[in-house]
Amino acid sequence: MFNIIIFGPPGAGKGTQSAMLLEKYNLVHLSTGDVFRSNIKVETELGILGKSFIDKGELVPDEVTIAMVEDFLKTTKESNGFIFDGFPRTISQGEALSKILMQLDTNIHAVLALEVEENELVSRLLERGKVSGRTDDQSEDKIRNRFAEYNNKTEPLLEFYAAKNVLHRINGLGEIDDIFNALVHRGRLCT
Ligand code: C5P
Ligand code: MG
Repeated sequence: MFNIIIFGPPGAGKGTQSAMLLEKYNLVHLSTGDVFRSNIKVETELGILGKSFIDKGELVPDEVTIAMVEDFLKTTKESNGFIFDGFPRTISQGEALSKILMQLDTNIHAVLALEVEENELVSRLLERGKVSGRTDDQSEDKIRNRFAEYNNKTEPLLEFYAAKNVLHRINGLGEIDDIFNALVHRGRLCT
């Protein structure tokens, strides 16, 4: 198996680049945000719980998110590998992911971190909010709160993965195809 984490703050382009990686490498996409949103739509217990955090731009508690990911991985273990998009977002989630993958006899091969500065991200998200219908894309307050969560809880994962020698930082500003090529080369993904 070949497992990738696509990493970065909200609006960095994780979803866009995941879609391209999926097509090229035939991987399974796990976007935790998408899983939450589809649960919210059909009002599952998980969706109702998650919504109270997501609408405020806060992170859902670790135990909820980790249980959801465990479930997903245990039911789809027959794959070439996974792209994790939006997970892990805390050190606890990172530790849990290592443990789960170890049980599946695999690990994280590359963490591709997209770097974009905050003002650019805010304008991208406000733009996306006009079409995405996402409640958390609708106001600058919520967006700023998502950055605060990212800076406090998620960014420390960069060190966590740098220590495992799997971290690659990529400039996330520019043409989508150029960024994709940079991901493939910097991450040393096979062609
Ligand atoms: O990844 P995405 O931006 O789609 O996530 C949307 C929201 O889902 C986050 O702002 C957060 O509220 C919630 N989320 C979370 N924990 C994760 C992934 C997403 O709480 N690991
Ligand atoms: Mg996304």
